[in-house]
Amino acid sequence: MKNKLTLGLVGFGCVGTGLYEVLNKSSLLDAEIKKIVVKTRGKKRLLPEEVFSYEINDILEDEEINTVVELIDDADAAYKIVVAAFKKGKNVISANKKLIAEHLDELILLSRTNNVSFLYEASVCGSIPVIRNLEEYYNNDTLSKVEGICNGTTNYILTQTNYGKDYETALKESQELGFAESDPTLDVDGFDAKFKLLILIKHAFGITETPENIFNYGIRNIKPEDVKYASEKGYRLKLFSRAERSDNQVFGFVAPHFIAEQHPAYNVNNEFNSVVVEALFSDKQLFVGKGAGSHPTASAVLSDVSALSFDYRYEYKKEEGGKGLSFSPDFEVKVYIGSADISQINQFVFTQVDEVYQSASYNYQTGWINFSQLKGVDFNSKKDLFLALLPEDIRLISSTDNEKVSEYETALF
Ligand SMILES: NC(=O)c1ccc[n+]([C@@H]2O[C@H](COP(=O)([O-])OP(=O)(O)OC[C@H]3O[C@@H](n4cnc5c(N)ncnc54)[C@H](OP(=O)(O)O)[C@@H]3O)[C@@H](O)[C@H]2O)c1
Repeated sequence: MKNKLTLGLVGFGCVGTGLYEVLNKSSLLDAEIKKIVVKTRGKKRLLPEEVFSYEINDILEDEEINTVVELIDDADAAYKIVVAAFKKGKNVISANKKLIAEHLDELILLSRTNNVSFLYEASVCGSIPVIRNLEEYYNNDTLSKVEGICNGTTNYILTQTNYGKDYETALKESQELGFAESDPTLDVDGFDAKFKLLILIKHAFGITETPENIFNYGIRNIKPEDVKYASEKGYRLKLFSRAERSDNQVFGFVAPHFIAEQHPAYNVNNEFNSVVVEALFSDKQLFVGKGAGSHPTASAVLSDVSALSFDYRYEYKKEEGGKGLSFSPDFEVKVYIGSADISQINQFVFTQVDEVYQSASYNYQTGWINFSQLKGVDFNSKKDLFLALLPEDIRLISSTDNEKVSEYETALF
């Protein structure tokens, strides 16, 4: 049986306006926006000023409103609004990955204790229906890997570097096109991709990690020489939010990856997002779509509204199976490290060196490296160095190997 939804919309920017428009075009859905709360008085908007309120209690205290759609750009203010909405017994739909990543378990608990629903399909990869698919479609198929291009800004910039533009030019262009913020840190340093990865890990493997415990390295230090390396080898660079499971361990991180033509995401270019899901029985599947933008993102919010009208809730079905799992840094990755300054490369301990290139102007080395060594380094602030993973599976290591590496490190530093 379908329920009538009376919505309180908070935020009427890019996504909020999009939701208003797509909802108006969705005649099959029994949902109406009763009130809209925004922040700034006197701003020019799509609808007349009298439609808007600046007081969140106008939504929270309205007993007819059974669902709060939170679409604001301030994660701290959103946290207070969402908590208050749960306590008032209202369902919440959100697109705010930072809010969700920082408070996921607390918000799940609050929604459960107040017997309401908390949906957030739009928070990961915009229009790509990934969360509900991980929850429902892959419910019984054992997942081994989820790997997403979850940030359209960085994918746009990386694509443009393939066409010969340098990082700064491509970033400026993405800002002019409205893909990147004036302060692009969250995107280009991989924080946005990390928030999304944390949500993917929860729905794929049933465990919750803190943002602080997930390694994120973005693309701001890429040099034309690194792009040249990619093109000589037939690779493309993608920023992946990557999580894998092996037995009772889960590995997850955000980092640039060189990928070969055979990779399903090789042709996912510009602002497009993608998610590759690998599972025991279904094998490899690729989802592609727009990860941002007014109507594409609103389409995912609309899908949550529609699901809510059938009383849908995430059941976090993987939590039970996730009980014995732990998030682990005990693995090796094959990396490329490039720098004009050879001493920048030599500070890392490779457990196996595969290729060394040195010249008067640029150097690089490829080989295997213990991930725990990378995890402790703030690579985003290392301007003179670029690191990316090469197209190889990760290698599992034992804790004895780890002890050996820390002995090497102690000897070296
Ligand atoms: N844009 C995308 O393509 C996209 C994609 C996926 C997810 N998201 C997520 O969707 C959410 C909204 O993004 P957006 O791009 O639509 O943001 P936006 O265009 O910057 O709009 C933000 C809206 O929030 C309102 N607002 C801010 N603080 C508020 C407060 N304390 N109380 C009430 N209203 C407040 C603003 O009010 P005023 O209009 O009065 O300033 C504005 O209407 C964010 O969490 C974002 O991460 C966005």
